[in-house]
Amino acid sequence: MQYGHFDDKNREYVITDWETPLPWINYLGSDDFFTLLSNTAGGYAFYKDARLRRITRYRYNNLPLDQDGFHIYIKDNKTVWNPGCRPCGTKLDSYECRHGMGYSIFKGEKNGISVSQKMFVPAEDNVLLYHVSIKNNSDTTRKLQLFSFVEFCLWDANDDSTNFQRNYSTGEVEVHGSAIYHKTEYRERRNHYSIFWCNRKADGFDTDMDIFNGPYGSASEPDAVLEGKCRNSIAHGWRPCGAHQLDISLKAGEEYTVVFGLGYIENPDDDKWEALDAVNRTRAEQMMARYSTDAEVSAAFNELRTLWNNLLGNFSIKSQDPRLDRMVNIWNQYQCMVTFNMSRSASYFESGMGRGMGFRDSCQDLLGFVHMIPGRARARILDIAATQFPDGSSYHQYQPLTKRGNLAVGSGFNDDPLWLIAGTDAYIRETGDYSILDEMVPFDNNPDLSQPLMEHLRRSFNYTVTHLGPHRLPLIGRADWNDCLNLNCFSAQPGESFQTTGPSEGPVAESIFIAGMFVKYGKAYERICRISGNNVEADECARHIAEMEEAVLKDGWDGQWFLRAYDAFSKPVGTHLNEEAQIFIEPQGMCVMAGIGKETGEAEKAMRSVHERLETKYGVVLNNPPFRRYHLELGEISSYPPGVKENAGIFCHNNPWITMAETVLGHADEAWDLYQKICPAFIEDISDIHRTEPYVYSQMIAGKDSPRFGEAKNSWLTGTAAWTFLSISQGILGIVPDYDGLQVKPCLPSHMDGFSATRLFRGTSYSITVKRAKKGEQTGLWVDGVRQEGFIIPAEGKKEASVTVIIG
Ligand code: GLC
Ligand code: GLC
Repeated sequence: MQYGHFDDKNREYVITDWETPLPWINYLGSDDFFTLLSNTAGGYAFYKDARLRRITRYRYNNLPLDQDGFHIYIKDNKTVWNPGCRPCGTKLDSYECRHGMGYSIFKGEKNGISVSQKMFVPAEDNVLLYHVSIKNNSDTTRKLQLFSFVEFCLWDANDDSTNFQRNYSTGEVEVHGSAIYHKTEYRERRNHYSIFWCNRKADGFDTDMDIFNGPYGSASEPDAVLEGKCRNSIAHGWRPCGAHQLDISLKAGEEYTVVFGLGYIENPDDDKWEALDAVNRTRAEQMMARYSTDAEVSAAFNELRTLWNNLLGNFSIKSQDPRLDRMVNIWNQYQCMVTFNMSRSASYFESGMGRGMGFRDSCQDLLGFVHMIPGRARARILDIAATQFPDGSSYHQYQPLTKRGNLAVGSGFNDDPLWLIAGTDAYIRETGDYSILDEMVPFDNNPDLSQPLMEHLRRSFNYTVTHLGPHRLPLIGRADWNDCLNLNCFSAQPGESFQTTGPSEGPVAESIFIAGMFVKYGKAYERICRISGNNVEADECARHIAEMEEAVLKDGWDGQWFLRAYDAFSKPVGTHLNEEAQIFIEPQGMCVMAGIGKETGEAEKAMRSVHERLETKYGVVLNNPPFRRYHLELGEISSYPPGVKENAGIFCHNNPWITMAETVLGHADEAWDLYQKICPAFIEDISDIHRTEPYVYSQMIAGKDSPRFGEAKNSWLTGTAAWTFLSISQGILGIVPDYDGLQVKPCLPSHMDGFSATRLFRGTSYSITVKRAKKGEQTGLWVDGVRQEGFIIPAEGKKEASVTVIIG
C-alpha cells in the first residue's frame, strides 16, 4: 500500500494520505539552522546543535504522536482546520504534502478555501520561512482568521525537558509590532534570541502558551483559536510561545498571502542591549527586512532550488528504471547531505539530546557526500581528526557546537581510527587535493599538540598495528562498527551503559571485522604513503597488511565464512560451533570488500553463506540464528529481542557492504538483487509493512525472526545512505573516483543494457554512456573518441568530455 507518490520532475515525494504509518519527515536547512518537518507540519528547529541550541520544543514519545510543530490554524466560522491536517485533524476536502529538496509544501482545501503553506530555510540564513497563501475559491466573500503557533524551547533541550523547578521561572519575551522576541537567559550568559514574526500587522498575539491554549488546553483546540481571539499575553516564566492572529476578509476568487519567519539572532557581547531589558533588535529587523515581500521570499526559494539543482547536477544517471534514477539522482544523494549535516543527532528516532557527531559515523557519511561539496567534507575531516588522541585512538563522539570530544562516552572503539583513513582517502580520490595531508590538526583539541593530518593517519594505522591480540588480530576495545558487540563489558546491572562499562581495552578480545577494515583502508594508507614518496613506510604498511590477511585466513576463517570475533576468553564468536549467532554479516562484507580470500576461494564461500544463512526477502540479517539468551560476555547485542536491531535485524548499513562485496567478485545479478531489496523506491508499495518514509533508508528493518518482519525503524540518520550510494554508484554503476582519474567499470546486472550518466569530477563534466558490446565488438573506454588504457579516464582539466564505455 502507498500513501503518496514520487514526483521526479519536481524532486518531491507527494503524500496524499496524511495518516501515514509514522510521521514522514523532511529536513530543511543546510548550513547552521535546521528544521525537522513532518507531513503534518510537526517538528522542531535548532541552530547548529539540536541539544544545546534548540529553538522550538518537541516532545518525543508523545500522545498523540508528533504534536509539536509549525502548525497554522484556519478558522472559518465554527470550523477550525490546518492545511497539514493536524493538530486539529479536521477532515479536509483535499490534502497534499510535498517534501522536496530542503522545503515542504502543505496544501489543504476546505469548504472552498484553499491554503498553501510553503516552508523552507533559505540558503545561508538562520531562519525558517513559511510562505502562506489563502485563496477563496467560492463565490461569496468570506471572513476568516489565521493563527500561527510555535512553542519555544529554553535552548538546552535536555535541561528544558527535565529542570522544571528552574525553567518554569526563566522564560522572557518582548513583543514589537508583529515580532515576538524570545529572549530567555539573554540577560545572563547568552547573546542570542529567536524571533517569530509575520510580515503583516497582527490583529492579536500570544506569548504564553497556557494562556493561548487555556488551562488543560490542547493544540487541537486552543482556547484563543476557538474563540477567535488572542489574549496579547506576555510570558513571564512558564512556557513561552509565539502566536499571531490575522483577521482576513476575502472576496470571491481573491488571494491573500503572508510570510511568517522563525529566526535565530546572535549579537556581539558588547552590543546586546538597546536599553535596560530591551534587546538590541537591529539584526532581527534586518532579517525581517530581507523577507518582507512575497517577491523576496520567492527569490530566496528560487535560490534554494538552484542550489539543489547544482548540487544534484554533479552526479546523475539515466537508466531504464525510473526507480533507480530517482534514488541515485535525488533521494539517496539528498539523504547523504542530511546525514552529513546531522550525523546521528536529530531525527524522529534520535532525540538530538543523546549524541552529538559520531567519529565513525561522520567519517562514513563523508563517503556519500564528498562529491557534492568537497570543501565542506575537507573541513569536516579536519574537525573530526582534531578529536583524535595522540595515541591514534579517538573520542567516539563530539558536540557540533563546541567541536569537543564527548567525555561521557570517551574512546576505545577500535575501528574508529581506521574510518579517518577511509574519509580522507575518499576526499583525496574525489579532489586530487593532497594538501589536506599537510594541514596542521590538533590532537585532543589541544593546539599545542598539532601535527599534519598525515601524522593523524599514520597514528590511525599504527593504532591497529600496536593493538593486536593473541591471534595477531586487532583488539576490539569497547566495540567495533557494531556498537552492541561488547566483548569487554560484562554488564549485569540495569542502567549501565554497554559501551562504557568494563575496561575499555581488554587485552584479549579481537575483531575480524577490524582486520578486514585494516586490510581495506590500510591499503589506502599505503597508497597515500607511496604517492607522497614515502616508499619505505609504504613497504612497511604492505608487510603489516599481508600479515593481517594471513591472520584472518588462518584464525579468522570458520570453514564456510569469516568468524566475527574472539571474546575475552579467546572463544570464537560467529562460528558453526555455537548454538546462537553462528554467522555475522559484518566480516563477510568487509573482508570480501578488502579482497581477503578472493584468490583462494574463501571470499566466494563467504558470499554463498550469506545467501544461504542471512538473506531474506527484505534484505540480509545481521546474524543468524538470533540470540535468545543474554550473553554476559557478548553484551548489548544479546539484549535485543530476536530479529531487531543488532540482534538479527536487517541492519541496512551493512547490506551495501554485501552488495559491494558481490561486485568485487563480479556477481552483478546478486549485487543488484540485494540493492533493490532494501531500496526505498523499490518497496514503496509495501509502505504499510515498511512504515517509514519510502524515499529514504532506515537504519533497521525487522528481520525474519521478528513478528514484525519487514517493518523499518530509525529512518534518515544512518550510514546506509552513504554506503548504498557507494554500492550503486561505485559498485554496480562502477563510477569510482580514483587517485589518477575517474574509473568507469560497471558491474551491471544482466537485465540492464547500459545507462548514461553525468559526473562532475575535478572540474570536468563527463557525459558517460555505457553500453553492452555487440557481437564481436571490443570492450573498453573511450574519451572523446580516443581509446584509453583500462577503464580510467585520465584527469586532463578539460571543461567537458564525452566518455563511452563498452562492457561485456
Ligand atoms: C548505529 C551507530 C553506528 C554503529 C551502528 C551499529 O547506527 O550510529 O555508529 O556502527 O549503530 O551498531
Ligand atoms: C545502541 C544501538 C546502536 C547504536 C548505539 C549508539 O547500542 O543499538 O545501534 O549505535 O546505541 O551508542
